[in-house]
Amino acid sequence: MIFVTGAAGQLGTALCSKLADACVGLSRDQLDLSDCAAIAALVESERPKVIINCAAYTAVDLAEDDPASCRQINADAVAALAKSATKVGALLVQISTDYVFGGSTIADGPNHEDSPLEAQGVYAQTKLAGEQHAQTCPDHLVVRTCGIYGHLPQPKNFVETMLRIGVDREELSVVDDQHCNPTSASTIADAVIALIDAKARGVFHVAASPPTTWCQFAREIFKQSDMVTRVVPITTEQFGAKAARPRHSVLDTSKYTRVTGKSLPTIADDLAIYLATRA
Ligand SMILES: NC(=O)c1ccc[n+]([C@@H]2O[C@H](COP(=O)([O-])OP(=O)(O)OC[C@H]3O[C@@H](n4cnc5c(N)ncnc54)[C@H](OP(=O)(O)O)[C@@H]3O)[C@@H](O)[C@H]2O)c1
Repeated sequence: MIFVTGAAGQLGTALCSKLADACVGLSRDQLDLSDCAAIAALVESERPKVIINCAAYTAVDLAEDDPASCRQINADAVAALAKSATKVGALLVQISTDYVFGGSTIADGPNHEDSPLEAQGVYAQTKLAGEQHAQTCPDHLVVRTCGIYGHLPQPKNFVETMLRIGVDREELSVVDDQHCNPTSASTIADAVIALIDAKARGVFHVAASPPTTWCQFAREIFKQSDMVTRVVPITTEQFGAKAARPRHSVLDTSKYTRVTGKSLPTIADDLAIYLATRA
């Protein structure tokens, strides 16, 4: 049996749909990760073979004002999952983020799994702590990815935000100095399953390529959607978000391809499939 936490989120929904009867999807109602005793009770009584932890406190800017809640879900709950997974001999798959990087520049090339980490801000720091807790489980996979967009009844992601705002505006200002690899939830779900099937262990990067910026990605969204909205490049400082964002969190995915024998899509192809399958 495979447990998928955060089953109502973007990635959890994609994984549950692909794994179908092979998994038990756990949304917050079935397992509240703020309750470590509930985590231990459920995992240790049901004894899943695999736990894929897709649940997280993902409100990056709100986390700056609510570090305790963020740490509880992104770090403390992972420690509890790792402890119980170890007890029952389960594989723990922890989904993590490109935000653990940030110290390098585009000239340094993409970040490898063992590149220096520099988590800035509460969300990134708690996700990094979550990675470290997951690694205490002898059987673990840490999967770092970036800029997830997935189908949900009320999706909240960069693609949907651009489409919603772009309809009414001739021009939009979008950050052009954060280099990243936005990736669909469907692609990430396929890759997580491929890593489990390949019996991979350790840290992996999973993302579409080649790297882009949010500004360039917005232009691609409008181009593929036949929208004429102009996108004006701005800097991170001009946008002025509360939490710090990495300027260069580009993920190198060659280890994933080497271990699974599978390739990952281009950002343009990945987006095209998402747009074509949008409700
Ligand atoms: N979104 C991104 O751009 C991005 C980028 C890189 C990595 N990641 C990582 O990828 C993973 C999946 O992200 P996502 O985009 O699928 O996130 P998401 O859509 O925000 O889903 C996260 C899920 O976690 C659940 N959750 C939050 N607090 C919980 C709690 N106390 N108990 C149980 N469940 C709780 C949420 O439940 P509710 O629906 O009830 O709130 C939500 O369904 C996360 O680990 C995230 O850190 C995300």
